[in-house]
Amino acid sequence: MNIAWDAQKYTADFSFVPQYGNRLIDLIDMNTARTLLDLGCGNGVLTKALQDKGLSVMGLDASKELLEIAQKNYPEIPFLYGAAENFQLPQPVDVVFSNAVFHWIDRDKQADMLNCVYRALKQGGQFVFEFGGKGNNRLIHQALEGVFSEHGYSYQMPFYFPSVGEYANLVEQAGFCVKYALLFDRPTLLKGDGGLTDWIHMFVKTPFSVVPTKAEQEEIIKQAAERLRSSLYQQGSWHADYVRIQMKAVKG
Ligand code: BEZ
Repeated sequence: MNIAWDAQKYTADFSFVPQYGNRLIDLIDMNTARTLLDLGCGNGVLTKALQDKGLSVMGLDASKELLEIAQKNYPEIPFLYGAAENFQLPQPVDVVFSNAVFHWIDRDKQADMLNCVYRALKQGGQFVFEFGGKGNNRLIHQALEGVFSEHGYSYQMPFYFPSVGEYANLVEQAGFCVKYALLFDRPTLLKGDGGLTDWIHMFVKTPFSVVPTKAEQEEIIKQAAERLRSSLYQQGSWHADYVRIQMKAVKG
């Protein structure tokens, strides 16, 4: 998960990321949940929502910038610095929860992450998560790839967006029993006329390392956005073509 977050802008302009996570909370069986880890907690908005449900919560994230905001806004919650694919808790918890994080972890690190989650849970513990699934932001990445190629560069896809079948298999290999799995489209409203270019600036960073000048990077983003206008700009607003994968698994 190698990204330098603009934590203030993320919190101000991309609040939909934790907002949608509220629906994921409903997958937790509250009757057997007392302690919870929010894995990749970011600015802590969802960690706080989970605490408000009566759970004893803690958050873990690999971004010091986002953790600083979380700790400042919710000083009563313990927030830990660490990587999802390499962490250990002092005590196992009843629930590991994660929203919009696992697509940042390379395919070859997913098993390490799932093993850490397995160890972090009590027997019978719940693992509830959502992230970008197969086809997530396909139009955006296709447009970027096309424009990169016209400029003479190769576009390296920076995310892991698996199918339900592929990911359920990985989760089972880590020892879990998958109880629920779903892949669904969730077109997502982006704020303002610059919504799509802002989104690309915020989330698509590493592919641009091969483009030497800032001016050319900006030109590529502008051209990709123009190409996407006919499909993603509707009724005066940009909508990103999100596809989500949601799962619930149990350590059995
Ligand atoms: C997602 O939540 O699916 C996502 C967000 C930013 C970049 C890539 C995927």
